[in-house]
Parts: sequence; structure tokens; C-alpha cells
Amino acid sequence: MLFACKATLISPVSFEEFSVRKDHCIVVRDGIIETVAAKLPEEYKDIPVRDYGDALLIPAFSDLHIHAPQYVQRGVGMDKLLFDWLNDYTFPQEAGFRDITYARAVYPQLIRDMLKHGTFHAAFFTTIHYDACDLFYRMLGESGMYAYTGKINMDSNSPDYYVEDPEESIAETERFLAEHDGLYGEHVRSILIPRFAPTCSEKLLKGLGELAGKYDVGVHTHVVESKAEAAWSRELFPQYASDSDIYEQCGLLQGKGPKIFAHVIFPTKDDERVLKKYNCVSVHCPISTNNITAGIMAVKKMQNEGFRIALGSDVGGGHRFGIYDVMANAVQSSKLRAFYLDDDSRLSLANTFYLATAAGGNVFAENIGKLEKGYRFNALVLDGLQDEGHELTPVETLERFCYCGDDRNITARYLDGKEIDPEEIYTRLKRL
Ligand code: GUN
Ligand code: FE
Repeated sequence: MLFACKATLISPVSFEEFSVRKDHCIVVRDGIIETVAAKLPEEYKDIPVRDYGDALLIPAFSDLHIHAPQYVQRGVGMDKLLFDWLNDYTFPQEAGFRDITYARAVYPQLIRDMLKHGTFHAAFFTTIHYDACDLFYRMLGESGMYAYTGKINMDSNSPDYYVEDPEESIAETERFLAEHDGLYGEHVRSILIPRFAPTCSEKLLKGLGELAGKYDVGVHTHVVESKAEAAWSRELFPQYASDSDIYEQCGLLQGKGPKIFAHVIFPTKDDERVLKKYNCVSVHCPISTNNITAGIMAVKKMQNEGFRIALGSDVGGGHRFGIYDVMANAVQSSKLRAFYLDDDSRLSLANTFYLATAAGGNVFAENIGKLEKGYRFNALVLDGLQDEGHELTPVETLERFCYCGDDRNITARYLDGKEIDPEEIYTRLKRL
């Protein structure tokens, strides 16, 4: 399929810089951007053109850390700290996914809402239950999203209604990897998901490490998430040099897939060694780490030192799906960090836009996250953000979207070059 879209394009160039192109045309062939030009080149004069007038066109967002089963608890229990929130709300709720009918009800709503809010690429936590994880995997495949997902592992320090035997957990994970390998090509891929060090035994982690090598998959977990978590992890694994070292030594970082570490708020020198060595993605989830009072990641410092960073909603620790909400909160949180530490932590909108699009998208494919030739046309049209009698610049309009907008301002969504309707996808997922 060959067509063009006309709008004002905003695309990331680098951590520091946007490109803004007013009234430009994007030519899309079979889902890939073929040309970006101020005027439609003569050779395309007969192709259909969708003219979005003054609206903005931006790359779709990537969410590198979200808990699919926590959809139903977003905005609930937000006065708790991490461990109380896990024990009082999260574990009892997630345990319900042993019942596949619960998963069948919840997961289509989650996927619909992510698409509505413009997130087309995401790394998902799930639960320990094979059948619910399998159903979710197939729903993601059907939705057309780009995703990393799998089955969670937890065999320690967990309530007896939501805990696994390590051998069974490893065997079920291997079965999951074997049965899902290649089902949806580049769109949905498996990843190992040990919940975090405190809920995993060494035996479990070493078993998963073997699977990382055998199936060449990556890992997604929480690392130095809060001071309490970091201290507990050190106490439980004193023979390891750091939280990250546990994953390295147990073999979990040997696969080709991405290494996605949520939060990374209190990295030690040894954590930093591992992050660099394996090009791990540290995921900044400021809405969540404010809610659970874990702290604020040193994003600017880490970015300047060459660490790889992306953004995450961490729903339900976070209460907003929109990665645009996370961008606004990342700016706000960085200003608080700068205020209290009297340093240069402050992030700009351009910084957070880069993390939300190019940096996050790159984890899924090299050509995701920008509006440039050769990139996949995964894009959002933003409209309805201007006031009468006062004109905002394109970048101001994007900023207003992040602070004041919502899914109603996303007036068209293109995934692999096709316009999608989240409600229609929801109806299809309900039938799976
Ligand atoms: N650490 C372990 N489990 C969780 C979880 O579900 N959410 C967050 N934010 N942190 C965790
Ligand atoms: Fe999390």
C-alpha cells in the first residue's frame, strides 16, 4: 500500500534535539517511510494523500516497563509504599489470573487502552500463570503491537497463594519459550521475567540463566528499585557484588535479547559495570517511583555517561498509561531532583521525547521511533490542542499534549502503516 500523510512533523534527532517540519509530506509504502519532503515529489502525484492540516504527526510511544495484570488496580492503593503495596494490593490481585476467564476479561481492555494512548511498543510483566500468559501473548500477536513478554517467576518471599516451586517454574518457563518461539515474528517476542531478586531463589535464577543461553532470550526485571529493595537484595545475596551482578553471575544476561532493568535508582559502581557491559536498558518510571516513593532516577547523569535509558509507565505502580504523561512527570520529577540536590538533573521536553520515542523504539527494532526514511510508520496524529486567539508553536503544542492532553487528542493512529481502531481491536481480542 502506498499513500502519503501531510501534517507538521515532530521527530527526535538526539537526546537534545527535535526536528520540526511544518506542512511536510510523509510517503509510506508497505508500512515503511519512503520519503519525507516539504512538497509531494512529482512521482507520487497520483497517490492518496491524507491531509491533517495543522495537526502534529509524531512517532508512536514505547513503554519499556508495564505490568499487564495491574491494569485493574491502577490508581488504587497509591498511599502505600512498595512492600505494603505489593502485599496488600498487588499479590492478591495478580493471583486472580490463575483463572483464565479473569485474564480474558482484563487483557483486552489493557491492550485497547495502550493503543488508545499511543503506545504501540511495550515490555510487559505478566503473572506466574502459564495459561493467562499464553492468552496474553496471543492477544498481543493479534493486536499488531510490538512487545516483549513471557511468564513471571517468583519462588521466595511471596505469599503462599502466589508462589512457585523453582523446578516447576523453570520447566514451565522452558515450555513457554519453546511453544511461543517465532509465533509472531518480530512483533511479539519472549523474554525472561524474574520478578525481582527478593522473590527469586538462587536456584531459580540459575535455572533461568541456562534458559537465557539455550533460547537466546533477554531478561526484564526490577533492579535497585528503592533503598529498601536494594538493601534486602544485598542481605539475601551477600555473595554477589550488586543487584545486577546476581543476573550476570546466574547467566541471565548471556542471551541476545534485550536486558531491561526497571528503575535503577540507586546503582552502585558494580551495577554500572554490568549496565555498560550488556548495554542494559534502564527504565525510568517517574510516576510510579513517586507513587511508591522509591526515588528519582539520575536520568541526565546516566544519559551523559553513556547508559541506555527509556521510559516506562509501570502501571499499576504508575497510574497513567500515556507515555506523554510520563514525559511530563519526568520533567517535573527532574526539577524536584535538581532542586533538592542542587545539581543539573533538570530534563527538557526534547530529552524526554527522545527517550519516549527513539530510545524506547530502538529496543524493538532499529527503525522504530522516528519519522525518517526507512523507519516503520508507527505514528500518531495529535489535534485539538490549540486555543482560539492564541497560537502555540508546534513544540509548545506537543508540550501542551504532554501536560494537558489525553487520548482524545490522538485523532489517528498508524501501526505498520495501517490506520488502527483500538475499539475494533478490542472486539477481536475479546473473541480469543
Ligand atoms: N517490585 C517487585 N514487584 C513489583 C511490582 O509489581 N511493581 C513495582 N513497581 N515494583 C516491583
Ligand atoms: Fe514494575
